Amino acid sequence: MHVLTVIGARPQFIKAAAISRALGLKAYCAIRQSIVHTGQHYDTNMSSAFFKELEIPEPNINLAVGSGSHGVQTGAMMSGLEDAVQHLSPDLILIYGDTNSTLAAALVAAKAGIPLAHVEAGLRSFRVAMPEEVNRIVSDRLSDYLFCPTQTAVDNLQAEGRSDGVHLIGDVMYDVFLHNRARINSQASCEKYGLTEKAYVLASVHRAENTDSNDRLLTIFNAFQSLATELPVIIPIHPRTRSALDSVGFFPDGDLTFIPPVPYGEMLGLLCSAGVLATDSGGMQKEAYFAETPCITLRDETEWQETLVDGWNKLAPPESGAIAEIILDALNRSKRPQPRPLYGDGKAAEEILSVLIR
Ligand code: UD1
Repeated sequence: MHVLTVIGARPQFIKAAAISRALGLKAYCAIRQSIVHTGQHYDTNMSSAFFKELEIPEPNINLAVGSGSHGVQTGAMMSGLEDAVQHLSPDLILIYGDTNSTLAAALVAAKAGIPLAHVEAGLRSFRVAMPEEVNRIVSDRLSDYLFCPTQTAVDNLQAEGRSDGVHLIGDVMYDVFLHNRARINSQASCEKYGLTEKAYVLASVHRAENTDSNDRLLTIFNAFQSLATELPVIIPIHPRTRSALDSVGFFPDGDLTFIPPVPYGEMLGLLCSAGVLATDSGGMQKEAYFAETPCITLRDETEWQETLVDGWNKLAPPESGAIAEIILDALNRSKRPQPRPLYGDGKAAEEILSVLIR
């Protein structure tokens, strides 16, 4: 069986690492993988560095699409993918998550009549204004295999009348976390940036809903700046966010530090040692849960509802105006429940391949 994996953005490289590693197991030698990189993310520290670090095979084709409006970016990807699919003739197309790369590949697979498998199916924010939500709904609707990370995702699909092809397999990001845990060196990550364990806030912001509104962007970053009078706040800064901040004239000061995007292992090191993570990332909310680091989610809602239940994750909508207080409160809370095994057993990738082989 020839599987074509289509990826293009940083979180997809991490997820694809789990499948690529499982493909090395003898049980799955009947599956051959080709990879197309759409080029949605292209800076070395957002793209090729992850292929090396996570030992993902080099892409067979890189479409080098780069930045653009949603229509321009998605259209260019579709055009390139159509040629790639003709050239590679896959038996199945594998997509991940909710980016424009996911959407483009889903549309191309459906129109070419090639079976489609979606990893991280069934997630919903129930806010269609969010570009990722559109991408998820369309990708799920067109997929033959829906690989869900959580029961909530299965329930969401069921509520939309979808149960055929739905598989609850756990989360491939948990596979990658467990596989890499041994090489996480929190101390080295802290030392590199002059930080003390559990005495700093790690943050990440890149969602369009936060970067494309000057009000929300400034509310978030002013809150970080005020927090930095109490303890260090460190932010590996996404290119989208940096350019949005430049355009509103916000520059970090004092103990608020911007660093370039960091490799996966270093991010995990910083995450494991942080007092709190403040983020609008989807993946990092779960990674905080894996790392047993409290998370504050800088959004109005989350697709990862189960992380909210025990209080490990808490929403801090920017409009609340209380971001700094909510982060400090999480930092000072001493009692925390034991995390539960919400995301499978670290073998989600193998489960996916077993389903495909069957
Ligand atoms: C995308 C996804 C989002 C995912 C995120 C992970 C969509 C609609 N959004 O948003 O779901 O959580 O990736 O990071 O697909 N840029 C660079 N260098 C890079 C990559 C991007 O400079 O290597 C800049 C470009 O100026 C670009 C901007 O970042 O215009 C945004 O890039 P985009 O492709 O929209 O992706 P993300 O914002 O990262």
